[in-house]
Amino acid sequence: MMLAQISDCHVVESDRLLFDRIDTAAYLAAAVAHLNRIGPDFVWVTGDLVDSGRPAQYARLRSLLDRLEAPYAVMPGNHDARDTLKAAFADHPYWRASADSLHYAIEDLPLRLIALDSLIAGESGGRIGKEQLAWLEAKLGEAPKRATVIAVHHPLFVSGIVEMDAINLADADALGAVIERHPQVERILCGHIHRPITARWHGTVVTTAPSVAHQVALRLRPEDPVSWVMEPPACHLHRWSEGGGLITHQSYIGDYGPMTPFE
Ligand SMILES: [Fe+2]
Ligand SMILES: [Fe+2]
Repeated sequence: MMLAQISDCHVVESDRLLFDRIDTAAYLAAAVAHLNRIGPDFVWVTGDLVDSGRPAQYARLRSLLDRLEAPYAVMPGNHDARDTLKAAFADHPYWRASADSLHYAIEDLPLRLIALDSLIAGESGGRIGKEQLAWLEAKLGEAPKRATVIAVHHPLFVSGIVEMDAINLADADALGAVIERHPQVERILCGHIHRPITARWHGTVVTTAPSVAHQVALRLRPEDPVSWVMEPPACHLHRWSEGGGLITHQSYIGDYGPMTPFE
């Protein structure tokens, strides 16, 4: 199974550019075309779907994502708005009945996918909360032998990018205590930090995906201000096979010339 992950689309209205400069919808359109050439089995969009949670932004996002040939699922990041997000994708099959928190599980793929909702309305940082952690513990307990991938928008570790670390997942330790009890968790996928990072974490592996648009500049001195930069947009391709495990490729989106076969 090939699971594609795209993250941090930050789509804005059609008459606007992000930061007055970045055409995030055009970047998402390029990501969709890129994935349609690659042919994943499923696409997961890991939050910051739009930039400010408005209905017109979600309508534009949906029209772009619906061009994907593969089935896809969405989940919230801190730039999203729960009710508006859920309304825009109301026909998607994975939602739970309640819209208080948009966590869910997808059971009908070779990998079990569990999305957590770390959105705190009006804040940049994230939190899962006790209720959702109890739900996760029960869900994981139901299927201890099923290889599982969890997605949560906010990263769980200290990256060294100081101002981003200040807005990561506040209750990461509590999540880690749950994860340690469930070794079937192959991976936790995050977004938010707009960079690819890998870490060993509480008995599993955490990876963060780059943005399909703008990246957070890699500046690791505390005095450096957090900055964005137009490094190449990219997505992650997570290839799963029974016995072979979960292998992650970073796939750059853009025209880098022809693919030339070796002699
Ligand atoms: Fe973001
Ligand atoms: Fe974010």
